[in-house]
Amino acid sequence: MKPPPLFLLLLHLLLLLFIATNATKLTALSPTPSPTPPTTSKSSPSALDPKQIRALQSLNIPTTRDPCIQPSPHNATICDNSKPFRHLISLHLFNCSSDLSLSFTALKSLSSLHALSFTNCRASPIRFPSHLSLSLTSFSCIHSLRRLTGVWLSRFVNLTDLTVSYTSINTHGLYVILGNMHKLKTITICHANLTGSLPRHLHLNLTYIDLSNNKLIGKIPTSLTLLEDLEFLNLSSNGLNGVIPTEFGDLISLKNVSLASNSFSGPIPDSMSAIPGLVHVDLSNNQLNGTVPRFFSELKELKVLNLENNKLHGVLPFNASFIKRLDVLKVGGNGNLCYNHSVLSSKIKLGIAPCDKHGMPMLPPPSKESSSGDSESESSDYDYDDDGAEGANEKKGHHHGPNKVVLGVAIGLSSIVFLIVFLVLLSKWCR
Ligand SMILES: *[C@@H]1O[C@H](CO)[C@@H](O)[C@H](O)[C@H]1NC(C)=O
Ligand SMILES: *[C@@H]1O[C@H](CO)[C@@H](O)[C@H](O)[C@H]1NC(C)=O
Ligand SMILES: *[C@@H]1O[C@H](CO)[C@@H](O)[C@H](O)[C@H]1NC(C)=O
Ligand SMILES: *[C@@H]1O[C@H](CO)[C@@H](O)[C@H](O)[C@H]1NC(C)=O
Ligand SMILES: *[C@@H]1O[C@H](CO)[C@@H](O)[C@H](O)[C@H]1NC(C)=O
Ligand SMILES: *[C@@H]1O[C@H](CO)[C@@H](O)[C@H](O)[C@H]1NC(C)=O
Ligand SMILES: *[C@@H]1O[C@H](CO)[C@@H](O)[C@H](O)[C@H]1NC(C)=O
Ligand SMILES: *[C@@H]1O[C@H](CO)[C@@H](O)[C@H](O)[C@H]1NC(C)=O
Ligand SMILES: *[C@@H]1O[C@H](CO)[C@@H](O)[C@H](O)[C@H]1NC(C)=O
Ligand SMILES: *[C@@H]1O[C@H](CO)[C@@H](O)[C@H](O)[C@H]1NC(C)=O
Repeated sequence: MKPPPLFLLLLHLLLLLFIATNATKLTALSPTPSPTPPTTSKSSPSALDPKQIRALQSLNIPTTRDPCIQPSPHNATICDNSKPFRHLISLHLFNCSSDLSLSFTALKSLSSLHALSFTNCRASPIRFPSHLSLSLTSFSCIHSLRRLTGVWLSRFVNLTDLTVSYTSINTHGLYVILGNMHKLKTITICHANLTGSLPRHLHLNLTYIDLSNNKLIGKIPTSLTLLEDLEFLNLSSNGLNGVIPTEFGDLISLKNVSLASNSFSGPIPDSMSAIPGLVHVDLSNNQLNGTVPRFFSELKELKVLNLENNKLHGVLPFNASFIKRLDVLKVGGNGNLCYNHSVLSSKIKLGIAPCDKHGMPMLPPPSKESSSGDSESESSDYDYDDDGAEGANEKKGHHHGPNKVVLGVAIGLSSIVFLIVFLVLLSKWCR
């Protein structure tokens, strides 16, 4: 009569364990939303407007499967729920055959569209029916549509989101395109050989501007700093010059900014210290001069700071704990910039020389061998792992992995010990 209770108890324990592990799995899964496509409800099985089916066919989009069933392959088509016929509100054309032609009739029947995108679709743009031009709130053209002009794009006056990339735009300037788009929130025009200068007047509700890799020239107009909602600004790889406006700090919502690879000169404006949410700052490959401002180390969110290849000078005002907190710090290629070797270990490879007592780079800059030699004595205060990894990057994570494993093993072992003690006590008690 003794064995059964012990056996049963063990079984009970195992069962409990099983339930517990599965319960954690279930709770881990529950937050993921169940896929409930909003446009397919069985109560409204109306079909796509036959005119639009014909339009899709003329654009070589297969219609054997109902284009309104969600999700459509590659999200190419999205429909509304109107009756008796549903209408397309979003259409994405991609990888078109070279002989695709956009017919005026087809486009006219697609005037219900709010979003239209082309990816790898080198068709010739034709005049869009005005109904379609006005109904679009989102237009995207990536490596598509030959011979785009600014005037052609300017007809989409109700756009909130405009994307043109890897497609040349022939225009006198950005103002031609944006002049009448009063609802714009995001604009991406990159790798588009865009010429001219930045417009003096931009719509104040813009949150996202990417004009990288074009041929823009001239200065940043002070009016750009009025965009209080702007979170993202990328003007990299253009021919812009002049100083960064002293009012730059008025862009209080800014998170990511790149002015890299232009010809900006003068100092990094102190007003930037007023932008609390800066995460990513890239000012590399310009002719910025002056010293590196200390305020960067007080920006709590900062993760990436790239100031390399400028003309900055003086003592780098950062300490090791700040550098460790960043994901990326690049300051090389600034001939007269140096670091204080009683503040920073030479094991943090910054690509600049240590300073002499006058705050000038020591000459000649020490070779890698000699610097790692004398750093042994200096670096005792800093616990950097010397794995030869670049700069201050990739520091994180190295310590967390092993710690988790150790913790797991410890928990596992202690629970086994607990179980054994429990069973021993139990068997004694049963006797
Ligand atoms: C389709 O769109 C949904 C929501 O916008 C997105 O989650 C999904 O990844 C997209 N699917 C494809 C194949 O692009
Ligand atoms: C388009 O073509 C490219 C290159 O051939 C391919 O990688 C991509 O998956 C295609 N996209 C779709 C949505 O079919
Ligand atoms: C687009 O803007 C025009 C004015 O430019 C307006 O009359 C029209 O109602 C708008 N269309 C839509 C679909 O919002
Ligand atoms: C931009 O112009 C250059 C030559 O000036 C050309 O090689 C390049 O293909 C153009 N870019 C695009 C996206 O058309
Ligand atoms: C711009 O944003 C403000 C505040 O968020 C809003 O009241 C206004 O309607 C927006 N204007 C447009 C044209 O979207
Ligand atoms: C800006 O654009 C360039 C190229 O288009 C890209 O490489 C870079 O990562 C972007 N910078 C930011 C801060 O997003
Ligand atoms: C902003 O920069 C951060 C850090 O580099 C990056 O993780 C994030 O994706 C960027 N955001 C955008 C919109 O590019
Ligand atoms: C920075 O460069 C500007 C010209 O671009 C010059 O007027 C100024 O004196 C320089 N400042 C410093 C601190 O070198
Ligand atoms: C490093 O610099 C930051 C910001 O300047 C400061 O808050 C922090 O106390 C400094 N840490 C050390 C160890 O000096
Ligand atoms: C380097 O730091 C030490 C200690 O903070 C300080 O006494 C010294 O003046 C600094 N040297 C330079 C060149 O700034």
